[in-house]
Amino acid sequence: MRRVAWFVSLLVLVLAGGTIVIAQDGGQGAPGLGDPFYDGLGNGGYDTLHYTIDLAIEVDTNAISGTTTIEAQATQTLTSFNLDFHGLEISDIAVDDVSADFSRDDFELTITPVAPIEEGVTFVTVVTYSGIPTPYPDPSVDGFPIGWLRFGGTIFVMSEPGGAMSWFPNNNHPSDKATYTFEITVPEPYVVAATGLPVDEIDNGDTRTFVSEMNDPMASYLASISVGDFVRMDETGPDGLLIRNYFPTDQAEELTDAFSPTGEMITVFSDLFGPYPFEVYGAVVVTIPFGGALENQTLSIFGTDAVDEYTIAHELSHQWFGDSVSPATWDDIWLNEGFATYAEALWAEYLDGATGLTDYMDELYEYMVEEELGPPGVPDSSDLFNGSVYLRGGWTLHALRLEVGDEAFFEILCTYYERFQYANASTDDFIAVAEEISEEDLSDFFQMWLYDEEVPEMTE
Ligand code: ARG
Ligand code: ZN
Repeated sequence: MRRVAWFVSLLVLVLAGGTIVIAQDGGQGAPGLGDPFYDGLGNGGYDTLHYTIDLAIEVDTNAISGTTTIEAQATQTLTSFNLDFHGLEISDIAVDDVSADFSRDDFELTITPVAPIEEGVTFVTVVTYSGIPTPYPDPSVDGFPIGWLRFGGTIFVMSEPGGAMSWFPNNNHPSDKATYTFEITVPEPYVVAATGLPVDEIDNGDTRTFVSEMNDPMASYLASISVGDFVRMDETGPDGLLIRNYFPTDQAEELTDAFSPTGEMITVFSDLFGPYPFEVYGAVVVTIPFGGALENQTLSIFGTDAVDEYTIAHELSHQWFGDSVSPATWDDIWLNEGFATYAEALWAEYLDGATGLTDYMDELYEYMVEEELGPPGVPDSSDLFNGSVYLRGGWTLHALRLEVGDEAFFEILCTYYERFQYANASTDDFIAVAEEISEEDLSDFFQMWLYDEEVPEMTE
């Protein structure tokens, strides 16, 4: 929804009379956004506004079929534009109801409408497709399954960072957020858990269609559905917020218990950071011990072996930092993981006071020194989710708090959240807020914590 203007490639012609004419080059939307970590992810020339993902899933075979409809606004005149889409078979693409030409090179899908789209115009692209989605392997996120996944009778989606294109065509970069509608049809008795507010459940006889709406801007990597033998458990959170959890039917009782602190955590983080950003929250637990969790927007996902109080706090805090305020580019990932790690420590502080906090941070510090964790501001290109962005990222915030004092520190967090919510922020944006609020020159401080190789001395 909000994006930086990229790639305005201009052709400057000097005409005979000395007049300078500036013309737009070609009208092809750029195939990438120049992300320092993932050059090819995302596309230029348009701004997505709304996605409608309408899919039927055959759970037994893992086959899907349906359409993704994308409403977007051209930010330049477009003779062609790209979407990111990996695997699956496309049977038709229509732009404003007219079939368009298309071709694909790896995940770069180039669409050429019959007539150019004028700058500023809103246009609708409908991609019709089918097949069996495959996960998207990412060498920078080794050993972690990404994208559309299926184990036994459970299907789930964990896309961070590039896996969204394994199940729907999109502008695959966090800098282009949009609202979403999910219309997912599955055979009885399967249940769909989707990001967004559940608004309808249509009984079609042998199948059911689960409809949900994401009415706030969302990065494509945070869009997710899970299909399984789930029971939906509703609770009312602070200020009437709907908390809807989806648990495997046979574990509903123990998981209800494990997730019971969620409401209180929402209150604690809202007090520290600012109001909870979305109109619903909850968790989906899949019966696969994949050893992780992911902060899908409004519906964090957990493997059965990742259900513990601090991971629950971690994923919840990402709704503020990661989901509402998303990284401008992928090498700002510490703005997600460092903040969520520090939120775990803030939960420990809420529970056990100053000792809870220091014990938590001391343990992280020891590990950080033992592992010689490198600078979180320069993530390891072979390992985007390296411990550094989590632990040294979290310690950067703790050290900042010790440097500027509690009052300024929490004002920095709230101001940063308020200023960049529903949008994107870079590391420099955060540093600018920290310097503005503290009225201190923090360049040496951030240089040491975020960019220097050596782990800084522990401050007291
Ligand atoms: N963002 C996740 C978290 O809560 C970690 C995801 C790491 N793996 C991945 N495939 N993105 O820490
Ligand atoms: Zn995280």
